[in-house]
Parts: sequence; C-alpha cells; structure tokens
Amino acid sequence: MFYCAYELNLPNMDELREELRNYAPDQEATWQASEYLDHRLVGPETIKFYELFDDCFLINMRFLKAPPGTYYQPHIDIDANEMDHFQGEIPPYMPRHATVNILLGEPDPVMTQWWVDLEARKIDWKRHRQDSSEKKYKLVDEFSLGTAPLLFNTGLWHSVQYTKERWMAGFHFHPLVPWEGAVEYCREKGFLVER
Ligand SMILES: [Fe+2]
Repeated sequence: MFYCAYELNLPNMDELREELRNYAPDQEATWQASEYLDHRLVGPETIKFYELFDDCFLINMRFLKAPPGTYYQPHIDIDANEMDHFQGEIPPYMPRHATVNILLGEPDPVMTQWWVDLEARKIDWKRHRQDSSEKKYKLVDEFSLGTAPLLFNTGLWHSVQYTKERWMAGFHFHPLVPWEGAVEYCREKGFLVER
C-alpha cells in the first residue's frame, strides 16, 4: 500500500479560491466536466499560485464541475480523446501523474479510490477507460477532497462517484514529473501534510 493523496498547507488560499470562483461561476455541471484554459487569464492570485510552485504546472489549468451521481470508472488522466487540452504543450498520450486540486464548491465526503492492475496488462491508451472494467484491481488508497488543497495521483487508476455536485480547479504537474517526484517536491517546499 502507498499513499495517493496528500493535503497541502499553502498560503493565500482564501484569495485564490475567491478569484477562481469568480472567474467561472456559471460553468455548467456536465459529465465531461472539465474546461482547460491558460491560467494567466484567470488573474493575479492564480499567477502567484503558479509562482509559488516555481511555474512547474502545465500552462493550461482546468475547471471541473460535475453533477451529483457522476461516476468516473477507474481511469488514468490522459487526453484519450485527443482534445489537445494543453494546446501542444504535451502530447495527448502522456499521463499527468500529479495534480493539485482545489475545491471551489461544497465538500463531498465521498472517497476517491486508487487501484493497481494486478495483471499489469498492456492496453490501448485511447481505450483505457472502456477496457478498465475487465481488470483485476487491488485497492491501494482512499482519500476525500476537503477544504485543503490536495496533491492527487492522477497517473494511477482512480475512480469516484460523487454524491454532491463537485466543483474544483486542477493544476497539473508536467508528465515527466512522476508522482513520487511531486510528493518529494511538495515535502521539500514545506507544503506537504504527512499522513
Ligand atoms: Fe481523473
């Protein structure tokens, strides 16, 4: 077993949350859920947030709003539909291993679950969501997104079913930063809340 989520202790979160909430208050809640855009459009608090992380995040951040009941089966965060969310900054087939998620709406006590595939099968990255139901999974971690910013392993199989509307912002580490690298980076910066 190993940890796939850590809360972060970061400064100026109230100001950042306020700016993020005000940027896209009317975003529609959909299963597709995410909108990706250049973080510099959002405002000065968002730019400061990137600077706090040494501008290590991909330029495009995401806003996610999904309705209650939305179920995400085990998946890995890859641009499987080749939507080019990052406008060429990374190829679509590269998993984003680590993401910082910040809750903008109401907390939902539901746990996200992380899994490993005990058969370690090779699968088509474009079809990985469809094929994932056939896998032999082992649960390795569970954690719930609360009011603290959360460092989240998006590069390992993960699943969740929201019970409330989920509204959040996400900031992605570059694909060549592995999960363990993002954890150590946050620990070194003094951000990581140990479990
Ligand atoms: Fe995901």
